Amino acid sequence: MTAQQNLTYTAHCQSCNTPNKAQSIICGKLFNMPVMCRCEKEKYDKETTAIAEMERKAKIERMRCGGIPRRFMHDWTIENGKRKAPEVMNKAQSYVDKWEINKQKNRGLLLWGNVGRGKTYFATATANALIDKGISVKMTSFPRILDDLTGFSVKNRTEYIERLIRYDLLIIDDLGVERKTDFGQEIVYNVIDQRILSNKPLIITTNLTLDQLKNPSDVTGARIYDRVLSVCYPICFNGDNLRGKAYEVAKAENAEEQQAKSYDINKLQQQFESGVFA
Ligand SMILES: Nc1ncnc2c1ncn2[C@@H]1O[C@H](COP(=O)(O)OP(=O)(O)OP(=O)(O)O)[C@@H](O)[C@H]1O
Ligand SMILES: [Mg+2]
Ligand SMILES: [Zn+2]
Repeated sequence: MTAQQNLTYTAHCQSCNTPNKAQSIICGKLFNMPVMCRCEKEKYDKETTAIAEMERKAKIERMRCGGIPRRFMHDWTIENGKRKAPEVMNKAQSYVDKWEINKQKNRGLLLWGNVGRGKTYFATATANALIDKGISVKMTSFPRILDDLTGFSVKNRTEYIERLIRYDLLIIDDLGVERKTDFGQEIVYNVIDQRILSNKPLIITTNLTLDQLKNPSDVTGARIYDRVLSVCYPICFNGDNLRGKAYEVAKAENAEEQQAKSYDINKLQQQFESGVFA
């Protein structure tokens, strides 16, 4: 006989008319106990669901804080970006919608083009949307990685890179701006090589053109960029500059104008079979 079968209900809730008190004889002794009537049970279930939802949201916010470097970028969402760049944001949405297959096939993106065209916004909006789905994303840059690693022991360096590799999606903003020291290039190579070997997607933004990526002046650059091009689907950002004018002038002094169509994109696209977005 189960404990349940041993119960005798002794009172009912005045609101829902289901039992809210019971008696039971256990080892010859009589026990009075409260039981949950239907409305109490519904209240309890609602509270439990609300707490689970709060915990889920808190976890997502923690992932966002740890994954996206600046607070203001938490508002760079696909939805918010549609007013300025609807078509581009549809591509970001499509990458997010196809995340499972993109992840499975290790399909990343190479967002390239001139300054202020929305590459970082695109990458951040994609990151925010994936984080909303509970997917772990880390957005960083090589200058930041190199700053973090300076002074680290080899062991700590290895652990740091291993942590980067563990994220479901790694986003490297502004490839090519890092200092070109032997140490710097070795770290860039290690992070990219290990990430690709782990079969996990990578999104990269860069001001380098596809031509520059395909024909770098040094061997290390060639080894790095060849790997990037083998797993990242290129998207050219050649629209209007979306930044304020003053910033545009300042940054453009260091950047050369880039051509959208100077590379055989079709060939690269074939590597992605049905494509990242189709
Ligand atoms: N879809 C968008 N909706 C609203 N604002 C946008 C959008 N895309 C870009 N911006 C704004 O335009 C500015 C430039 O965008 P972003 O930083 O993404 O350019 P970028 O291509 O990464 O430039 P750089 O090559 O200099 O890094 C940002 O301040 C961002 O707020
Ligand atoms: Mg940028
Ligand atoms: Zn009740």
